[in-house]
Amino acid sequence: MDKLRIALIAGGRSGEREVSLRSGDAVYEALDRKKYDVSRYDPRDDLIGLIHDREKIDLAFVLLHGRFGEDGCIQGFLQLLDIPFVGSGVLASAMAIHKKMSKDLYRLAGLRVAEDAMLTRGEVFSAGGIVASLGNTLVVKPVSEGSSLGMSICRSPEELSKGIEEAFHHDNEIMIERFVQGREFTCCVLGNTVLETLPIVEIIPNPEHPFFDYTAKYTPGASKEICPASISEDERKDMEFCAKEAHRVLRCSVWSRTDMILQDDKIYILETNTVPGMTATSLVPLAARAAGMSMSDLLDRLIEISLEGQEKT
Ligand SMILES: Nc1ncnc2c1ncn2[C@@H]1O[C@H](COP(=O)(O)OP(=O)(O)O)[C@@H](O)[C@H]1O
Ligand SMILES: [Mg+2]
Repeated sequence: MDKLRIALIAGGRSGEREVSLRSGDAVYEALDRKKYDVSRYDPRDDLIGLIHDREKIDLAFVLLHGRFGEDGCIQGFLQLLDIPFVGSGVLASAMAIHKKMSKDLYRLAGLRVAEDAMLTRGEVFSAGGIVASLGNTLVVKPVSEGSSLGMSICRSPEELSKGIEEAFHHDNEIMIERFVQGREFTCCVLGNTVLETLPIVEIIPNPEHPFFDYTAKYTPGASKEICPASISEDERKDMEFCAKEAHRVLRCSVWSRTDMILQDDKIYILETNTVPGMTATSLVPLAARAAGMSMSDLLDRLIEISLEGQEKT
């Protein structure tokens, strides 16, 4: 049987370029060469290569995180070139990367999200007013960045003003969210219409990292991840339901990973990643292992799901 010709797309030019390259390395290493011929592309330098090779590509494996990669841009480009790809289409990618847009959709589906205020660059605001309406402890985040880039936790109007300034270095639109105190979890969903979940991961930040920040995410040992998470049967079912609903309401394809916080018995959805990290320390490979799947098994499954569901929104 002919091998499937896979174009592994990693790198790109978002703030998460380095993470993407590491995801790309891990996937490149694990793809079963008995089944796949693999070539690599970095769209920062090599978009032309994809155009040139399009007849020779059966499936693109998009491992770009953040802007131009997880936001629908590369997906639109691949669709124009008639290259099928792993993951969500243009609309789902664009909706999921925008943390406010996705929260509006979660809310419509009856899922719980933290209260927030939005600011666009140049808008006049009162830090004291925001604190008065949302509370003392706030999370400021650029609305379309990942990997906790430009994010900060603020505990006073002064810190909030600084946090807002920092977030505007990364985006023209930022979100200020009420801090949700609780345990943090993430749940990976696989599928197009029939959805399955991987075992839930609990993320326990190291006290040196006040939240699951960039270092905690990509330094082995900087946070502790437990999978399967130690939660009750009801909590597990609720989290799986939330992750599947998030996947559905955003119209995701193939795979997604939804981050959430459990406060008492309430689940708050933070965000859904349509191209989750796939580095050696990433959460999806960890969850797959807990389900008895090696990285190669997981990749086989993602490729299989991608080939069975070509219709994307
Ligand atoms: N409202 C919130 N309350 C408490 N912690 C939060 C909140 N929002 C984000 N965090 C923390 O910041 C991390 C990153 O936030 P998230 O919204 O998942 O963005 P991203 O992972 O895209 O940077 C989360 O994993 C969590 O640790
Ligand atoms: Mg996250």
